[in-house]
Amino acid sequence: MIFSKIIGVGSFLPKKVLTNRELEKTLDTTDEWITSRTGIKERHIVEPNELTSDLAFEAAKNAINQANIGANKIDLIIVATTTPDKIFPSVACNVQKKLGIKNCPAFDIQAVCSGFIYALSVADNFIKTNSATNVLIVGADSMSRITDYSDRSNSILWGDGAGAVILSASNKQGILSTHIHADGQHEELLHVPTTNIKDNTQQTIEMNGSQVFKIAVNTLDQIVDEALIANNLKKEDIDWLVPHQANIRILEATAKKLEMSMEKVIVTIDRHGNTSAASIPLALDDGIKSHKIKEGHLLLMEAFGGGFTWGSALVRL
Ligand code: UT7
Repeated sequence: MIFSKIIGVGSFLPKKVLTNRELEKTLDTTDEWITSRTGIKERHIVEPNELTSDLAFEAAKNAINQANIGANKIDLIIVATTTPDKIFPSVACNVQKKLGIKNCPAFDIQAVCSGFIYALSVADNFIKTNSATNVLIVGADSMSRITDYSDRSNSILWGDGAGAVILSASNKQGILSTHIHADGQHEELLHVPTTNIKDNTQQTIEMNGSQVFKIAVNTLDQIVDEALIANNLKKEDIDWLVPHQANIRILEATAKKLEMSMEKVIVTIDRHGNTSAASIPLALDDGIKSHKIKEGHLLLMEAFGGGFTWGSALVRL
């Protein structure tokens, strides 16, 4: 039986930081409101000439170094992103070019904030069916590019960044399970309403925040149960919750469902904001670098986002 295991993790954040105090200068908002309603204090923002593939490339290099394998050993590249450099080619192809890797398949996955879980699920299946051995998975987004900074209802949430893992074939079970879901019925609650890019129509995020919040909390409750039941595990078996960072109140609700103290939740939202597909691998790297997550620990990763899409991964590091 072939299993897949994470053998390297890396991340990258653009240098520029946008604080709540700076947002106060241009928006009818306050640091106090943003902090108490979302948990966010600051987020990183790309420069005009900084592309999603630049962030993804830096995160990928860090993960490859940590895995201690040559880039030429990678035989599949998957990038989860909603903010590609261009409509085509894919960010994955641009990362492949930047890494100097030739002749391996490379493609993007678009599942918005759940993109990293989707990519992990796809990569796990490629490995388990012996179709790939070393997969580079990147979650990368430049959400600031599709944010309307005059809309206080959601512009305060988003940040930019990238996180990457190397998932490799192993005789040890690293990925215990993945579950991915979608329901396209509520498209208008969270979307970028552009239909024709030839028109000068809106290309920024529109969100009914309070509706999305309620659906997210209920759905995350269900996927926690789904992951535990599928693996015959109990809540207390989980060492760390490594969640998509959408809102500190959503993280607290999921921790409550798991009867888990917030001490066991990797929280980066205060410093990163919501970086969409990048947020889970960024949190994973943060948890490892801060010596919280250690080899052998059992991690529950979960996400909910536009589509709607949602999913979980149970991972033994
Ligand atoms: O990752 C993808 C999935 N996304 C999410 O999961 C996001 C889910 N939603 C949220 O995180 C929250 O709904 C938000 C943070 C977006 C909004 O928080 P909320 O507590 O749901 O606020 P609300 O939209 O219900 O608005 C409450 C009040 C309103 O004022 P009134 O009508 O009560 O007078 C808003 O106009 O807060 C006002 N408001 C603000 N005030 C100051 C909304 N945005 C702001 C703001 N600053 N930035």
